[in-house]
Amino acid sequence: MEKLVPGLEGVPIMESEIGFINGLEGILEYRGISIEELAEKSTYEEVAYLLLFGKLPTRDELKNFDQDLRTHRRVKYRILDMMKCMPENGHPMDMLQAAVAAMGMFYPARDIRDETQRYWSTIRLIAKMPTIVAAFERMRHGDEPVRPRDDLSHAANFLWMLNEEEPDPLDARIMDVCLILHAEHTMNASTFSGLVVGSTEADPYTLVSSAIGALTGPLHGGANEQALKMFQEIETVDNARPFIEARLAARQKIMGMGHRVYKVKDPRANALQGLALKLFEAKGEHPLYKVAQEVEKIISERVGAKGIASNVDFYSGVVYDKLDIPIDQFTPIFAIARVAGWLAHWHEQLKNNRIFRPTQVYTGSHESPYISSEQRS
Ligand code: ACO
Repeated sequence: MEKLVPGLEGVPIMESEIGFINGLEGILEYRGISIEELAEKSTYEEVAYLLLFGKLPTRDELKNFDQDLRTHRRVKYRILDMMKCMPENGHPMDMLQAAVAAMGMFYPARDIRDETQRYWSTIRLIAKMPTIVAAFERMRHGDEPVRPRDDLSHAANFLWMLNEEEPDPLDARIMDVCLILHAEHTMNASTFSGLVVGSTEADPYTLVSSAIGALTGPLHGGANEQALKMFQEIETVDNARPFIEARLAARQKIMGMGHRVYKVKDPRANALQGLALKLFEAKGEHPLYKVAQEVEKIISERVGAKGIASNVDFYSGVVYDKLDIPIDQFTPIFAIARVAGWLAHWHEQLKNNRIFRPTQVYTGSHESPYISSEQRS
């Protein structure tokens, strides 16, 4: 008799050298380096290299990698044309998923054993996803997409393409750190979903589009949108307690709270809160920040003992909102960061691949009679 493990909780599905989490102590490391140190000292480009190639790059290695990313930012006009035909009120995550899947038709990379193909599909995915996200933002407001620039960093160029304004250096650095914080997180639902597809030896565009699909859900990446919407609904600090009490009484989840692995505050939530404060110091406090703090305090009093604390999605919304990023673009930004982690796991998986084929505990009937349609009631 198979033992059922709902949600595969705690079941290791592969060995990995990429990310490490200690959920009891609130530790997150990429290739052994703490997330706090990377957030302080690194850039998204360097972190992507670290995740993909297993070591910090030399200056030349970083220069070449960064240059490759910069020269692959543009998206084919036929992909942009395809995007223009999509409903403008569709969710940007659905657009991103569709455009990434379409990329696989323009840049076939079916020979996944070919290292050169693997490298260039990795570069294209990381370089072009921000262009797709920004282009859809422009299109849905009736504007032409803004052409990417190759004289800006990954994060600064993304802000440029969104706003067609020279990005403020603080905003660009904050976006850079947000991308670092979201770049990898071990065996979560989207990474696992990508690996299931990768295990069939499907191409990387198919893998990433499936991971984007998994990230869409409100229990995963979609929680950042829901958390900000919840703060908007609460509106004032005084409303926070009755709102939270009512939700807890109805056994509803508080978005941006709780985590399968962390039983203390997610270190990325700490880092995002720090970024929020930096941003507020320069540009004024977000009107809902105090509401968020009050929610965090109440949750800690009420259910903190169960190991429920804020996760990465709790403070990212107030940061993005302060950067004037529309609420439904929060999860796509998560995706443009996480693509480095998804692909790092894919490269690692291919060294020793085995197709995923779990089992189930069958609870249905056996030897049931076939009843003809006339006799069915
Ligand atoms: N609010 C209130 N109670 C919660 C929350 C929450 N956000 N999260 C968990 N709990 C409670 C559950 O009700 C349950 O209580 P019980 O034991 O009395 O029944 C207990 O904590 C365990 O909860 P589970 O749902 O079993 O925990 P699980 O590990 O399956 O879920 C998850 C983790 C999905 C993240 C959950 O905490 C959740 O839904 N949080 C809200 C959505 C969210 O913020 N998701 C983003 C996660 S980070 C990311 O994916 C990027």
